Order: sequence, then structure tokens, then C-alpha cells
Amino acid sequence: MEDSFSLLIVLDAVRAERSAFDEQISLVTSSEDEKEALRIIRIRFLGRKSPLATLIRGIGQLESSDRLQAGKALNEHKSLVEEQIAAAEVRFEDKKLKERVSAERVDVTLPGRTKWVGSVHPLLETVFRALEILSSMGFSVRFGEEIGTEETMFDFLNFPKNHPARLEQDTYYLPGGSILRSQTSSAQVSLMRNQHPPIRFVVPGKCFRNEEISSRSLNIFHQIEGLYVDRDVRLGDLLSTLEVFYASFLGQSTKLRFRSSYFPFVEPGIEVDISCFLCRGQGCFTCKRSGWLEVAGAGMVHPNVLRNGRVDPDLYSGFAWGFGLERLVLLLYGIPDIRLLVENHPSFLRQFPWRG
Ligand code: PHE
Repeated sequence: MEDSFSLLIVLDAVRAERSAFDEQISLVTSSEDEKEALRIIRIRFLGRKSPLATLIRGIGQLESSDRLQAGKALNEHKSLVEEQIAAAEVRFEDKKLKERVSAERVDVTLPGRTKWVGSVHPLLETVFRALEILSSMGFSVRFGEEIGTEETMFDFLNFPKNHPARLEQDTYYLPGGSILRSQTSSAQVSLMRNQHPPIRFVVPGKCFRNEEISSRSLNIFHQIEGLYVDRDVRLGDLLSTLEVFYASFLGQSTKLRFRSSYFPFVEPGIEVDISCFLCRGQGCFTCKRSGWLEVAGAGMVHPNVLRNGRVDPDLYSGFAWGFGLERLVLLLYGIPDIRLLVENHPSFLRQFPWRG
């Protein structure tokens, strides 16, 4: 076989390889998977088992005078094949890119998509506003626990054992005896236990009562509780604090009216009315012609509650007040049905653009 391997054979073989290559490379663009086709061509013409590789390995068997020419022909062929495959690969990547660009081109004539700009829920906005004022008055914000026990929810707050608020009709009892708080006042004792006087906290948060859901009431609602304990805190401090707060919160012309009332955890207890801000005290449908709206419960912290909070009632005194938010929000924003606050209809919420 050895003498049959000659320069002539090598040159012939190179020519045959070349024309086979030319044909195959010209077909690449019409193949289904161009990338794969190029990979196969590369193996076929440049791979370790390709005729080219066999020819290169055979150079040593040629007459030494023929080796140079054979080597040159083989190298030229090899470079040409490499260049053409590389060029085809570039063309292929280019084509892919162009296809992608045109497929993904932005059509500027299409109608734009609406961007939703969220806004703060009117309830939360009202909470923020109240807390901002209360912070400026020296109260720090704390969050009480929404789930407690008979002890933290009632005993600590001086509720008599037979008080109707303990009944299951009003209060949600969880399996195992836990209780959902029905008022933020339940935070008072733990605030006192965790901080020596002076204590100046406000507690915003959810409360739960087993109420029939209607246009006027929900079984989950929000309150803000205020608690101030220090030496020599007097009823007058409570009244002036409320006056300052409601004047900033609802307008300087807001008048307050205090009526005596009963809550087990305060003594004395009062009920706070504000002059109706819809009719400016003239009397309207909302204030039932009285000119007043009931907004909060308040009072001087009961000595038993101070004791439960490990505060000595002989040295310290305090006041507390609490108010619900939902009804105020309805009045402030002119919302006719309390359920709208929790139904999350975009058409409802979109009416309250963020006012910063
Ligand atoms: N927690 C009472 C309520 O829900 C309000 C209140 C708070 C009364 C603090 C007195 C002191 O009605």
C-alpha cells in the first residue's frame, strides 16, 4: 500500500475533500438546525477521524521531496475549511440576532399599558396622620398583642368576673382559651410592666368583636390607645391632651364635650364627644341633630390596673384613652358603607390618590 500513497493521491484527495466541503457548506443554510449542521461538518472535515487527519498523519510516508508540497496543500485546505466554518457560524449568529431583534421590536404605535400607581388606604392614611400628631406630642408607638388570655384581656383590666364583655357573644374565644382582643386597652398592663414611668405610648391596631357585619359595623376594626403614666398626672392633663390632639387631627375649630361614663379600667371614666365637623355643630343627619359625635372613651387609669402593671398607685397616676378609626374614616372621607374599607375594590381604592 505504501507506494500507492503518493503526492498525486494526496492532491486528489484534497480536491475531493474540498468539493465535498463546498457542497456541504452550501447546504447548511437550508438545514433545519444550522448550528448542528455546522458541528457535523466540522467533525466530518476537521475531526480526528476525518480524511484530512488521515492524510496529515500520512505525510511522513511520502518521498521527502513531496512532503513540502503535500503539507502545503493540506494546510491550505485545512485553513480554508476552518475559515469558512467560522464565517458560517458568524453568519448564523448574526441571522439569529436579527431575527430576535425584529421579533422583539417595540411597536411604538401600540396603545400603552396602564401603570398602576398604588395609594395609601384611607384607613391607614388616617392612622398615619393620627400617629404623626401623637408622636409630636411625645407619645411613642407600640403594638400590643392581638391574641391574649382571659387574664390579659379582662382580669388585668379590672373587669369583674361577671362582666358582659367576657361573654362569648362579644368576644372571640379561640380553641385552648386564647382570646382575640376586643380593645387596644388590653395593651396597657404589658406596656406598664415593660417600662418604668414616665410611660407615654400610643398603640394602634386591630380589634375583634363578634358583631353582625353591616354597613355600619365590621367584626374586625381598628383602635388607637393612648397611655400616659407619671407622677402627678391629673384629669386636666387628659382633657388638655385630648383637646390638643383633636384640634390638630380634625381642625382647630373642633370643640370637645366630656360626659362621665364607666369603663372598669379607669376611674373616673369619661366619654369624649367632638363637635360635628360635617355641620359644625349645627345639627345634621350624621350627628342625629345633636351637633356632637361620640369619638372616644377615656379616664384616669384605675389603681388596680396600675398595680397589675407593677406601678405603685401611691406614687404614680395616669390616664388612658382609646378611639375607633373606621367611623371617623367614613365621616372624614364621606364613605357611605364601612364594608367598602375591606372589600378591596380597585374602583373604590383608586378614589384616594396618595397625597403624601
Ligand atoms: N377601650 C375603650 C373602648 O374600646 C375605650 C377606652 C380606652 C376607655 C381607654 C377608657 C380608657 O371603648
